[in-house]
Amino acid sequence: MRVAVFGASGMVGKAVLLECLDDARITSVLVVGRRSCGVTHPKIEEAIHQNFYDFSPLRSRLASLDACFFCLGTTSAGKTEEDYTRQTYDLTLAAARDIVEASPQSVFVYVSGIGRTRLSAAGSCGRASRGGRRTRFSRSRFALRT
Ligand SMILES: NC(=O)c1ccc[n+]([C@@H]2O[C@H](COP(=O)([O-])OP(=O)(O)OC[C@H]3O[C@@H](n4cnc5c(N)ncnc54)[C@H](OP(=O)(O)O)[C@@H]3O)[C@@H](O)[C@H]2O)c1
Repeated sequence: MRVAVFGASGMVGKAVLLECLDDARITSVLVVGRRSCGVTHPKIEEAIHQNFYDFSPLRSRLASLDACFFCLGTTSAGKTEEDYTRQTYDLTLAAARDIVEASPQSVFVYVSGIGRTRLSAAGSCGRASRGGRRTRFSRSRFALRT
């Protein structure tokens, strides 16, 4: 299987990446980040990308994915509702749209926090979860952790 991991320079994404590297069923891992994840491994293909609202330059590399683990996220602390919405909802949907275009058969796994669909301060995370369900992925998964 070929998978992509977003947010691999962060705590959750790094753990997901290490699990992917350990799993013999996964032969290739595309790591997408704005900086290096700091891990080198023969299975890793790293894409350093700065504009997380437009993944079209990466579309060819997003092809032939079986799954995408979207572990990228940020805190709402100190952000306006508008900024937080842009960095959660808008960013996630931008990525999901390009991934579904390039790999319509893939599974999109969105990592968020428990209660994010209910808490108003974190409402955009919940909207991102619901927005993800409206993309054209034939199979999408939502991993919610406390
Ligand atoms: N850690 C927890 O206990 C916990 C609990 C509940 C839910 N969660 C959720 O799990 C997800 C990941 O959490 P985490 O603890 O792994 O966070 P983290 O350690 O802060 O890592 C966040 C990751 O997202 C990337 N990122 C953030 N904003 C970005 C942006 N605007 N553009 C591009 N990349 C961006 C970071 O990239 P850079 O390295 O380039 O900054 C990093 O790779 C979040 O949605 C979080 O809400 C985490």
